[in-house]
Amino acid sequence: MAVASPTQDDRQQYYEELEGLQMGPLWAILRSTLTREPQRREVPFLWPWSVVRPQLLRAGKLVTAAEAERRVLMFLNPGNPARIGATATLYAAMQLILPGECARAHRHTPAALRFIVEGEGAFTCVNEEKVTMSPRDLVLTPPMVWHDHGNDGGQPVMWLDGLDIPLLLSLNGVFFEEYDGEAQPSSMPPARSERLYGRGLFPGGSAAGPAQSYSPVWTYRWVDAREALDCLRRSSEPDPFDGFILRYVNPSSGGEVLATIGCRLQLIPKGIHTRAHRHSTSCVYHVAEGSGFSVVNGVRLDWRHGDTFAVPIWCWHEHAADAEDAVLFSFSDEPVIGALGHRREQAYLGNGGFQAVESVFGAK
Ligand SMILES: [Fe+2]
Ligand SMILES: [Fe+2]
Repeated sequence: MAVASPTQDDRQQYYEELEGLQMGPLWAILRSTLTREPQRREVPFLWPWSVVRPQLLRAGKLVTAAEAERRVLMFLNPGNPARIGATATLYAAMQLILPGECARAHRHTPAALRFIVEGEGAFTCVNEEKVTMSPRDLVLTPPMVWHDHGNDGGQPVMWLDGLDIPLLLSLNGVFFEEYDGEAQPSSMPPARSERLYGRGLFPGGSAAGPAQSYSPVWTYRWVDAREALDCLRRSSEPDPFDGFILRYVNPSSGGEVLATIGCRLQLIPKGIHTRAHRHSTSCVYHVAEGSGFSVVNGVRLDWRHGDTFAVPIWCWHEHAADAEDAVLFSFSDEPVIGALGHRREQAYLGNGGFQAVESVFGAK
């Protein structure tokens, strides 16, 4: 006996019944969910220091550190639906602490890094170790490590915060605890973590302990990183896509400094224009030195010292320094994508490896 063909109404009624039963037909969303490539919502975007700095100082006049807990301006990618990320997985922001202020102690599962932009005299206390902060130092506060910030100096101090908050939110993995008291005591010897773990040596015997998922070095000094970059430049050829690039390393494992965030420092010498590539990781760049531009999916982003910009996943990108040497600090979700086995990279093959510029970011 022949079966009558279902009508549109039959199907519609069926779908509506399923909806009420908290079920749904996969075939209706299969192609829009399992896409050939990531369906990126975030866009290439740049936050100029000339815009960020005055707004941050304004926050210093309007809100106290005690009121805010952290006086932070978030960098929100216009395409990020949750209004929290600079990319789909990475949070970036700029924090201000004024002389004499304390940003009270707490800890949380999101991993954090700080890259100091301006000012001397601030410190982060990490698990009772006082870590001084100078411009362009990298300071880590890994997951569930107690941290508070203070400013013993006489000038405002500002730094870039990088965290994995969007990723942790997607995993529903945020835990947060307040410390019992405003600031931790500094019971550890000063600079313990960098003196003990950051000098090519490592504790042995019963003090060795297992490899950790994050670096036991709380701070990576700019003077050391910059010197290493110069050594690399003098002794090797530039990478075609990244110029001269260094990885900040966890000395207990040789891996990335945080389980969810990798950090890099790269030098683009004056006159170098890297070839374009793209990869299945997203990245936030901060200009540590000099000026230049990047082309990200056809958008030219002109940047200078203090600027921050986002390169979302699977966007073609290339960097150039035309007037002077430039140094870019960056952080990415590479450790996560790598651990999942999903790292992909592709070189741009057209036009000699360089993209055509379709628009200039910020142009009126
Ligand atoms: Fe925190
Ligand atoms: Fe890249």
